[in-house]
Parts: sequence; C-alpha cells; structure tokens
Amino acid sequence: MDVSALCDNNATRLSTNDRPAPLAAMAVSVNKRLDDDQAILERECEDAERERDYIECAGHEVKNQIAGAILQQEKVVLALAGDPVEQCAKLVLARLKSIPAVLEKTRELTQVSSSSGPLLRDRIDLVKACQMDIDFEFGDYTPYAGRIVFETGDCPTLMRNVNVELVSIIFRNLLRNALIHGTPGGQVQVSLAGDGAFTVTNGGPVVQRFDELAGKSKRGNTSASGSGIGLYIVDKAVKKIGGTLQLDSPARGRESGCEVTVQFPPDDVPGSGAAE
Ligand SMILES: Nc1ncnc2c1ncn2[C@@H]1O[C@H](COP(=O)(O)OP(=O)(O)OP(=O)(O)O)[C@@H](O)[C@H]1O
Ligand SMILES: [Mg+2]
Repeated sequence: MDVSALCDNNATRLSTNDRPAPLAAMAVSVNKRLDDDQAILERECEDAERERDYIECAGHEVKNQIAGAILQQEKVVLALAGDPVEQCAKLVLARLKSIPAVLEKTRELTQVSSSSGPLLRDRIDLVKACQMDIDFEFGDYTPYAGRIVFETGDCPTLMRNVNVELVSIIFRNLLRNALIHGTPGGQVQVSLAGDGAFTVTNGGPVVQRFDELAGKSKRGNTSASGSGIGLYIVDKAVKKIGGTLQLDSPARGRESGCEVTVQFPPDDVPGSGAAE
C-alpha cells in the first residue's frame, strides 16, 4: 500500500480525517510518536548549538591569551640566553605554541560530532574547495609551498551537495598529514576523479597497520607533533557525508609511502552527471 495515501496535505504526519475509528486511533499514536521524536531532535540540536558556541568562544579567548603568553615567553627565552634554565624556558615556549593546534582539533571534533550544523548542506565544487584549502593553508607563503601537486584530470569541476565545513576538515587534515608525516620536503600527489574519489599520496616508509591509526588518539612512528585525532575526525566527517575512507600503506602500486582515499557519494541532484 502507498503510505503517502494515508497522509493529507501535511505529508509529514498521517491524516486522521475521514478514517475508520481503528485507523484514526493508530494515526493519532503514530503522529504523537513523530511529534515526540521531533521534539527530542530539536532539543539535541539546541544542545549541540550551545556546546559549539561555548567551544568557539572559549577557543577564541584562550587563543588570545596564548598569543600574549607566547610573546612574553619569547622575550624570556632571549633574556635567558646561555643561562642554565634557557632550555626549560624554550620547552615552555614550544608547549605554548602547540596549544592553538590542539584547540583547532577540538573545534573540528565538535563540528563532526555535532548533530545540527554539519547536517546543513551546500552545493559546492569539490575541485574549487580543495584548491582553496591548498592555497590558503599550504600555499606560496607557507613552509609547504610548492610541495602539493593537485591533479583533476578528467574533472575540472565536481559538484556535490555536502557540508562545506566537513569537506574542508577532510581536505586539511589529509593534506597536512601527508606533508608532515611523509618524506620530509617531499611531494604530495592529490587527485580528484570524476567518480568522486579523492586521493592523497605521499612518500616515506611503510606505516604498519595504517588503517588502525584512524582510532581515537592513535599515533604512529612519526617525529612530527600532533594529538592523534586527525584521522579519527576525518573518519567521522567522511561517514557523516555518506562516503568511505581507505588507508593504504604502501601506497597502491608502490613499495612504500601512504595513500588515503576518500570516496565521496554520487551527486544527488537529478540529471547532473558526476563530472560536469
Ligand atoms: N599521510 C601519512 N603518511 C604517513 N603517516 C601518516 C599519514 N597520515 C597519518 N599518518 C600516521 O598516522 C598517525 C595518526 O594520524 P592523525 O592525523 O590521526 O594524528 P596526528 O597527525 O599524529 O595528530 P593530529 O591530531 O594533530 O592530526 C600519525 O601520527 C602518523 O603516524
Ligand atoms: Mg594529523
């Protein structure tokens, strides 16, 4: 039976008009259940929104305080040159400098865990979004200038309905990982294909049980600093947009290095091809 025939103009609830008594009673209880579920969902969205606001505000304030503390500590390090406690002062400075990255990870984790914000979807071109992240985070004026080779081959544009913040979290984490954990100073190959496959490949030694490193707080044998939650966040973000994540080491077709593939879901706009 076509369930939509049981609805009236309001297609989200069952109609109780002109129904035989048993059917009307059932419709009333089904509608009540739907109302209750919607109220719970709305409360959860509000809670998530509050949590996000709190973390954004706290993060902003802490970042300002840390920036001030770093400035002061740099003066202390200079003043202590040659002093026996100079190393301690340098260590404090290094710890202070690592805090903004931890805050950024916490913010990303809140975004991928939130039930409200990331449900919002935007029609975006993945090629353009990736190029923007490369230019902004790893472009000419950064220590990573010239290391990323971005190939789009058969797809100059790739349109999808996805949350732009989640996509950016995925791109930025995977690109940074390849740059900091791969061969020092080595090139990183990035590609987007017409079927929605996004691939990041870097050189370096084989990473044993690479796929297990997407667990929370898991870190591999790397000299780069980090908290071990980047891949965990990426995995959550990819699941949230309905894609899949694959971690290979050695990189496919090679004997070393790492390759990470995110398969974006097909375009859900009727009539549009995957590659446009
Ligand atoms: N592209 C890569 N090449 C080599 N090793 C990698 C790569 N990506 C991740 N790894 C390994 O997987 C581990 C987990 O990565 P993940 O991004 O979760 O944490 P992280 O980079 O150490 O810290 P952060 O939380 O700051 O991202 C890393 O510590 C590193 O050992
Ligand atoms: Mg990382």
